[in-house]
Amino acid sequence: MGPSRARRSRRYLTCEPRHFDVLYAINPWMRVGTPVDTGLALTQWRTLVGAYRDHGHTVETVPPVPGLPDMVFAANAALVLGGRAFGSRFRAPQRRPESAAYGLWFKTAGFDVHEPRAVCEGEGDLVPVGPYVLAGTGFRTAPAAHAEVREFFGVPVIGLRLTDPRFYHLDTALFVLEDEGPDANIAYYPGAFSPGSRAVLERLFPDAVIASEDDALAFGLNSVSDGRHVFIDPGARDLIRRLAHRGYVPVPLDLSEFRKAGGGIKCCTQEIRP
Ligand code: ARG
Repeated sequence: MGPSRARRSRRYLTCEPRHFDVLYAINPWMRVGTPVDTGLALTQWRTLVGAYRDHGHTVETVPPVPGLPDMVFAANAALVLGGRAFGSRFRAPQRRPESAAYGLWFKTAGFDVHEPRAVCEGEGDLVPVGPYVLAGTGFRTAPAAHAEVREFFGVPVIGLRLTDPRFYHLDTALFVLEDEGPDANIAYYPGAFSPGSRAVLERLFPDAVIASEDDALAFGLNSVSDGRHVFIDPGARDLIRRLAHRGYVPVPLDLSEFRKAGGGIKCCTQEIRP
């Protein structure tokens, strides 16, 4: 057993999957015409929200908009750091209206939202850890957005190239276990990255938890950690074992219905960092 880990209370933003559906295909997980069980999606989402609250976290919701089936993936709406919100600009035209719908929530919640000039899909590709923001590119977020993020937050942005279309957002291949202090650490699947980006991750996080392709395909890297509990797909069996061995407490949550759109736990969760 590893060391005992400390949790920190978080503030999460989510979106009820009342209008969740698969109406277009913009990643390899999506098949137009796949029937979606909205009732099951709602149950799985409520279980996720309940688990966050049971573990002492605050969960807020943005009103779902009819005709925006991917709006449930709140992570893509923004990156919020130090109480400042960097908004989104989606690559797919079908998702572009989500930015304004979330922008409204942020404004009402008291945030000034920076509108990116380049394509940028929020926490899907932007992952704050320690003194950095890790920033994915290759399928969605443009490298030009990485520079905008650096200028907006004044934080070093580490660009990482994704090369496997099944892991089209950074948050499908990597997640943060501990986001602050000397123990800042991540888990990731090396096969999702270009050789140079893999070398960068090895250099920055020599103590990272390495996940297998099977764990990644089970969306085990689309997880959320509060520093102690890791909300994770039950299918990521090896990864769950490895996390427990490191002193984390896995909280298995099945979001299988969202897999039909290429989403999982982290995709449904936007963290509002004070
Ligand atoms: N269907 C959505 C898309 O392809 C899924 C987004 C998942 N979100 C995420 N943070 N990885 O854009």
